[in-house]
Amino acid sequence: MARYTKESLEELKSRVDLVDVIGSHIDLKRMGTAYKALCPFHDEKSPSFVVQKGESHYHCFGCSAHGDAIAFLMEHLGYSFTDAIEHLAERSGIVMEQEKGDNASKTGLSFSSMKESLAQVSEFYHFILLRTEAGKKARAYLQARGLGTEFIRFFQIGFSPDVPGLFSKAMQKMGMSEKTLKELGVVSNAGSMNRDLFYGRIVFPVCDAMGRVVGFSARKIEESQMGGKYINTPKTPLFTKSKLLFGLNYSRKKMVKTKKALIVEGQIDALTLIHAGFDYTVATLGTAFGEQHIDELVKLGVKEVILAMDGDEAGRKAALKSGDLLQSRGLVTLVCKLEESEDPDTLIRLKGKDAFEKKIEEAEDFLSFAMEAYGVFAKEPAQKVQAAHSLATLIRAWKDPILVHETLKALAEKAHLPLHLLQEVAPRRLQVIKSLSNPDSPSVSAVDEDIVYWLIHSSMRPAFFFEMAELNIEKEAFQDVHCQRLFELCVMLFKEKGSLDLITLCSEADDEISLLIDKLSKKRVNRDKAKVLYEKALLKFKERAWLKEREAIKLKIQSGACSDEEVLELVRAFDKIKNSLPKLVFPELSMP
Ligand code: UTP
Ligand code: MN
Repeated sequence: MARYTKESLEELKSRVDLVDVIGSHIDLKRMGTAYKALCPFHDEKSPSFVVQKGESHYHCFGCSAHGDAIAFLMEHLGYSFTDAIEHLAERSGIVMEQEKGDNASKTGLSFSSMKESLAQVSEFYHFILLRTEAGKKARAYLQARGLGTEFIRFFQIGFSPDVPGLFSKAMQKMGMSEKTLKELGVVSNAGSMNRDLFYGRIVFPVCDAMGRVVGFSARKIEESQMGGKYINTPKTPLFTKSKLLFGLNYSRKKMVKTKKALIVEGQIDALTLIHAGFDYTVATLGTAFGEQHIDELVKLGVKEVILAMDGDEAGRKAALKSGDLLQSRGLVTLVCKLEESEDPDTLIRLKGKDAFEKKIEEAEDFLSFAMEAYGVFAKEPAQKVQAAHSLATLIRAWKDPILVHETLKALAEKAHLPLHLLQEVAPRRLQVIKSLSNPDSPSVSAVDEDIVYWLIHSSMRPAFFFEMAELNIEKEAFQDVHCQRLFELCVMLFKEKGSLDLITLCSEADDEISLLIDKLSKKRVNRDKAKVLYEKALLKFKERAWLKEREAIKLKIQSGACSDEEVLELVRAFDKIKNSLPKLVFPELSMP
């Protein structure tokens, strides 16, 4: 994250006009000195979202959303802190200064001046495509693919002319040095000469989430041209393929609002879909969809992902791999089935957007898709069992044990196979033991961390939070030893002093626990929802303990080491647990 100087942050704060910022994103109505709107953070019929002229915070009297301009941009549009600052600075015409040593590239160009230069380069390509003789061929190519002028303008598509020397002359005129062009990633060093990297190709600008150009992806227009079908900007300080989602600047708003994302393989697919109104689409850029792409989606609050990969074998493989990653992170994943030779672009062009809408409606859940892809429905028993085992192995590696359990159960039902066979094949038990002995394992400790996090940050109603913990939590059920120790410390201090504050807590904690407290304090959580989130965490915690108890009994039954009587006893215990799903216990009298 960029670190700005205190002076420039203060300057920015004094210049921001909250009414102006918010008014450009939602419809504000003036009422006296206040401005009102339908709250963008919850559904309502009459406006309770209020901004006062001259004040620095908005407030919603319906859902108690509250914050300043930065918070609004982060919550409403999913901006990162830095994005929000840059956006406000641009609107108010302030140049933000950064602390020395930060955010400068090798030759000392700042990120913002690199982006300014890239915007100019992009305008040049766009101008060539639309306005010059040199762009004629490329225009015809796009036209033939059904991409007209309006489309070209909307996405600022360009063409790098195949006229020797034209690009470099134009760049020189714009005052860009060879060194700068190299750093922007638009020329390559072949031999001693810098060469226009995208020579003779159609150029798609690649933007950051804010819509500023950070690089390009370029397609050849004739088979005979040298190099791959697409080439991209090489890695630069602004352009990292493993993080970039093409189309995000157009799709972010809808993604934040609906918590859904549509993922495709190609950039033309993404643009065609966005243009057709599926404006929550993104594509990766010549690289597999990976963990860091998921991070970007999660940051925006995305909960459900629809995969619309190409209909060929490669597309199915990609959907399987991406879907596995997404499920592993707990995102709901659906897969669209396209015909063998189809991609979203050709589908829309040939059959129209209703046909694509239908594909989305008919998208199947990841499990069904994976069962078919693995061959679980094979007639041949050996083949079917092998496929089911492989798929079960994949599922067992997902992070959330409850999701694993539920998915295996569904797999067993759909495949008509006994559940325990799918649970036991391989090292699920080993995995649990391993993670128990490894307190750093992030997946295992997430719930544990949530519990202690909320106890530490329960300043609004600590008594209720601690009472709930006492009623619902058994400290033996923590899987992470550090969380367990911190939990005990919090409970002890609260009992002793009747309150809990960070300074006291830190003064009592040893190194390991201090590290944990520090880690927890950096969590980005919506504290307005403390009670709801805390109760959710408590329930998850109980569910995990419940599941563990169930599994333990089951393993004992299946071990073969018990007498018939003992087995009967265990089966009874198992049934009892199975039928009593964990529930939260609330303190008497003080029902919240
Ligand atoms: P496809 O080969 O499926 O192309 O590659 P496409 O998206 O359908 O493109 P058109 O319709 O032929 O123009 C999917 C994606 O893989 C990357 C690009 O990001 C492309 O959009 N790719 C493909 C490359 O990076 N280099 C290549 O040589 C080919
Ligand atoms: Mn295509």
